[in-house]
Amino acid sequence: MALLPQTAASQLMYASRAGNYDDSWHPQYAKRFVRIANPRAGQRILDLCCGTGLDLFLLAEALNEDGTADDGGIVIGVDATAEMLAVAAHRQKAQPELTDRVKLLRHDVTHLETLGTTDASARLEKHSFDTIVCSNAFVLFDDPDAVVAGWRRFLKPPVHTAATHSPNDSHEEHESHHHHHEPGGKLVVDIPHEAAQRGGLAMERVARRMGLVFPSNRSWVTSVNSFRDVLERNGYHVDRVIELDHISGQGATYYTAHHVDDLYDSLAKSSAFAAMVAGAGPGVEAATVVRHGRPIFREEFLKDAGKNGRVFMSDTMYVYVARLAT
Ligand SMILES: C[S@@+](CC[C@H](N)C(=O)[O-])C[C@H]1O[C@@H](n2cnc3c(N)ncnc32)[C@H](O)[C@@H]1O
Repeated sequence: MALLPQTAASQLMYASRAGNYDDSWHPQYAKRFVRIANPRAGQRILDLCCGTGLDLFLLAEALNEDGTADDGGIVIGVDATAEMLAVAAHRQKAQPELTDRVKLLRHDVTHLETLGTTDASARLEKHSFDTIVCSNAFVLFDDPDAVVAGWRRFLKPPVHTAATHSPNDSHEEHESHHHHHEPGGKLVVDIPHEAAQRGGLAMERVARRMGLVFPSNRSWVTSVNSFRDVLERNGYHVDRVIELDHISGQGATYYTAHHVDDLYDSLAKSSAFAAMVAGAGPGVEAATVVRHGRPIFREEFLKDAGKNGRVFMSDTMYVYVARLAT
């Protein structure tokens, strides 16, 4: 069976969500995320999977307010889905004062090395970014290690110089040491808590059992250390991990066997589920997948239940701030 590659599945999923993506908890969350990214005047920022630009325009506004017109501060947004970028482009038109601060590019962020091969103006300069952000997207990728490894080359590397000046004058007894350290660029990525949106997690397992692909990949996230490990084994140093709570506003919740059918029905209406069905190829009816998937979902979802029969659902996001290791 030919399954949809990750980027194609995401495009399918977000093409239909683009129009109402911003009618959600995302705009509020973007403010919290951007505060952690901490944009500064003159910085070059890369926003990977920028979507409709919720983070991108907050970043660009900050650069614009704090900077001068010619300070080089810019945010480059990259996303694979034309419909999401169209919303961002619309926003850009409405904020002409940000024209020179924002650049939007359509491309697969898991293959940035091929960006600009046909259009040199779209090429991303290596070792040139102060900040790379990727919000609400990382758990869509198939191969987390390969992705962070591929992004390394775009961050400004840390700089260490230790200059020792020997005195020319032999009367001077001391030498002066000048240590200079610039930490280099930072990568800011968020990853949902391992117990967040557990319906989607169970659906990943349902899809696998049915020989299909649910367009997200969170099965490798088992604790706050999972993404830290990915970063560290790919040459990053993790500065800090911030846990943001009440992401959707719901807070921690508990589900029981009584909720499973309602949860399944709402997930079966999602664009992610539609992408999973589309990936099965022509001739596969959504209704058939929904019917076959239901008992499997019940079984998979309730595997996460505690002794009291309740499934704990967190509303937390982990945000990682990392730099290239020295
Ligand atoms: C949930 S949205 C997040 C948008 C934005 N970062 C935010 O937080 O509001 C996920 C975005 O990832 C994009 N995406 C998924 N896989 C991608 C890939 N391989 N390359 C580029 N964009 C991708 C989708 O097109 C979608 O716009």
